[in-house]
This record gives sequence, structure tokens and C-alpha cells, in this order.
Amino acid sequence: MKFATRLLLNFVFFSVLSFTIIIISVNKAIDYFSFVTIQKQMMERADMCELSFRGILARNEISASQEGTSKVAKSALEALKASGKEVRIYDSKMKLLGLAVDGIMVDGGNPVIFKENIRNALEGNYSYTVADNKLIYFAIPIQDKYYQNAYVFELVENISYFYDIMDKIRYVLFIGAGGFIFLITLSSLHISRKTTKPVKYLLGATERFSKQQFEHVELKRKDELGMLAAGLNQMGIQLNNYIQYQKQFVSNVSHEIKTPLAAIRGFSQYLYEGENEDDELKKVYFHLINESERLTKLINELLMLSRFDKATQELNPEKTDLSELAAGVAQDLKSRAEKKDITIETTLEKTVFVNVNKILMSHAIANILDNAIRYSGKMSQIRVNTYIRQNEAVIKISDQGIGIDRSDIDLVQERFYRAKNSQFASGTGLGLSICKEIVEKFNGHLEIESEIGIGTTVSIVLPLA
Ligand SMILES: Nc1ncnc2c1ncn2[C@@H]1O[C@H](COP(=O)(O)OP(=O)(O)O)[C@@H](O)[C@H]1O
Ligand SMILES: [Mg+2]
Repeated sequence: MKFATRLLLNFVFFSVLSFTIIIISVNKAIDYFSFVTIQKQMMERADMCELSFRGILARNEISASQEGTSKVAKSALEALKASGKEVRIYDSKMKLLGLAVDGIMVDGGNPVIFKENIRNALEGNYSYTVADNKLIYFAIPIQDKYYQNAYVFELVENISYFYDIMDKIRYVLFIGAGGFIFLITLSSLHISRKTTKPVKYLLGATERFSKQQFEHVELKRKDELGMLAAGLNQMGIQLNNYIQYQKQFVSNVSHEIKTPLAAIRGFSQYLYEGENEDDELKKVYFHLINESERLTKLINELLMLSRFDKATQELNPEKTDLSELAAGVAQDLKSRAEKKDITIETTLEKTVFVNVNKILMSHAIANILDNAIRYSGKMSQIRVNTYIRQNEAVIKISDQGIGIDRSDIDLVQERFYRAKNSQFASGTGLGLSICKEIVEKFNGHLEIESEIGIGTTVSIVLPLA
């Protein structure tokens, strides 16, 4: 997951989480406080009712008879019927003595009775039940003159308005939170983009560094990222110096070795051709010639690379037929291929003109063909094709050899790099890097495709002349 995405998700996750917690707690708090308010109101009303009821009881010298009780209850109801939407009176056996709705006495009917509520009140506690979220049944214990809980007075109130308010508050809360989360998402998007921009820039710089392009990293910041940029710049300077020293060293040594090597090569040849030597010595001289030739080739390659580095290599491009060059190189290397019973099959388009230096380009093609021969088994086949592909000239060399591991493909064009599976053959690891330099000098590039055990295809792609 990208850094910016992760930052954004973190922001959003935590804001959603904290809003959920806030909403839940605010919701609970509203619930609690509103209920406490309702309860308080009911209690006040209950106190009033209780007081008036006691007065009525005192005035009415109640007898224990059912009739007397009911009479008292009725007169109490009469007095209190304006106390709520509905008022009820129960006796100590939980029997409903009377009921008034909206100030009018109601007889009969079959009202719902919450017995638990009444029972609680008869034990001397205020008690309430909420039915269907709309009606609150608030039961008040009333004592007779002997301080016995003899009656229960019940107020029934519609509190749907309360639930409506709650719903509205919740609605506003949700809309508000949604808007806030939306804003937070937008601002975190902005912040994460802003934060990751310099990181992306630094990432680009490190990628360039890995390709040995040590351009100055321009990031004027005083924070850790600024320090990182400064560190990268310092590293770039040092690496660049190191690479330049190394190249200079290789170039100097190659120059120094060149002359004595020519002398060794010349003397070996002289001794080899001498008449008085026996066969054993001749073998030694022959070996000396071969080895000094190999070394000369290496030195020449190093010097060529050094000339490319210093841009002192003369390019002198001229309009050249790539097919003609390919045919020439294939002919030159034919005898070397035949030693391994390898056939070189060429399919060359008639004229494929490019602007290159003939000698350098032949050298590049020869290097690739030489690899194809060296890294292929006996009796295999090599195909050389030239063709035009979308305004580009291509020369493609395919073999059926050992192949290059996927992880090595990008590296084999680096100087001195040799793939793991090619250690059986001698080599310097310079061939392909020279090809790359040559091809790039003429605005082209190399394409390498390969599969271990199946074969390798190396193509040179150049702009058409
Ligand atoms: N046709 C090929 N088949 C298999 N491996 C190859 C082929 N061409 C190049 N390679 C790999 O790429 C490496 C680099 O090639 P090169 O630069 O020509 O160096 P050298 O041939 O001197 O080793 C080789 O060592 C080899 O591992
Ligand atoms: Mg090679």
C-alpha cells in the first residue's frame, strides 16, 4: 500500500472511530439528562398529587368498606383529573378504583395495567414503566392515616414529544458527523499528498542514483526530509568521485600495461617462429601468444570504455545498411560457430538504413553474436534477423543456449557483471556494457529477453536513417 493511501486511511479510520465514540456518548448523555428531567417533572407532580390526596383522605374519614374506598378514590380523581393526560387510582389489592382521561372520568373499558409498577409502588417506592416508547406510567404510593401503603396513584403521560426531540438531535448529530468526516477526509487527502510529495521526490532521486545519475537533490526544508536530501547529495558527490577515480585508475593502468603487453606479444611471436626451438617450447610460446592476445583484447575494451566515458571516442556516423553489417559479422564468426557445430541462420530485410559508425556497430553485433556462440551448447542454432519495426531498425540475435536468470537480465549490461550460470566460460563481463555504450551513442537501445535453459534473444534497436 502506498504511503499516502496508508496515511489517508489512518486519518479517516481514527476520525470515524472518534466520531462514533463521541456520537454514542452524546446520545447516551442526552438520553440520560432528558430522562432525569422527565423524571423530575413527574416527581414534582407526584408530590403535589400526594399532598392533595392526603387532604382528601383526611377530610373523608374513610371506612374500610369497599364502597367508602371507591368514593374516596372517585373524589380524589375528581380533584386530580387535571394532573395529566390520564390518572388512575388503585387500592392495596391492585384493583383499579377509577380512571380519568383528559379530565373526564371513564367507567369500564379494559385498560392495560402494569402490575409490576403498581406492586413496586405498594412497597412504598415511586415506580415507572415506559410503554411502546410513548406513554410513561408513573406510579406514586399513597399512605392512609395509619401510614400503610393503601393506594397507588398513577399518572400516565405521553412522552412521544421527548422521543421526537431525541430523534431530531440524533439526526442533526449524524448529519454533522457525516459532514465533519467528509471534511476530515478532504483535509487528510490534502495533508497526505503534501507530506508524500517530497518523499516521492526523494524516491525519484534515489532511483536516479542507482542508475549513477548523481544530480543535485533540490529540497529546501529544515526538517528530517531536508536533512535526508542533504545526506543524499553528500552521498552522490562521494559516489561520483569514487566512480571517477576508479575509471581514471582503470584507464591509467590499461595505458601502462598496453606497451609492455605489446612487447610480450611480439617476443612470443618471434620465439614461436624461431627455428631452433623444440615442440615443448613452441607449445609454451603459443600459449603465451594466446594469453597476451586475450589480455590485449581486455585492455582494448577497457580503453574503449574509457574513451566513451571521456567522450573522446570519435563517432563519425554514416548511413549504413544494418543488414549488410549483420551479414558481414555473421560471416566473420561462422568458423568459430562451426567449431561447436552451431549453425547461424540469417533472415535479413533488404535494406535497413541507420546512421552509425560501421566499425563500432560491427563490434557491438560481434559481441552479441560471440555471446550467443559461447553460451550455447553444441549442435544448436543461432538466428540473426534484421527488420523494421514502427520506424525503428532492429537486429535480433536469438540462441538456444543456457539463458539468463530473470534476476540477472537487468544487470548483465553493467560493467564486469557476469550471470551466475556463466562461470564455466571465461569472460570479462564487459562485452554487453560496451554494446550498450555503442548503441546508446547512436540513440538506440538494447532489449534482452531470456529464459533459463531455453535461450536468449538480444536485440539492438536503432532509429532509422
Ligand atoms: N547469449 C547469452 N546467453 C546466456 N548468457 C548470456 C548471453 N549473453 C550474455 N550472457 C550473460 O551476460 C553476461 C555478460 O555478458 P558480457 O558483457 O558479454 O560478458 P562476458 O561474455 O565477458 O561474460 C555473461 O557473463 C553471461 O552471464
Ligand atoms: Mg561477452
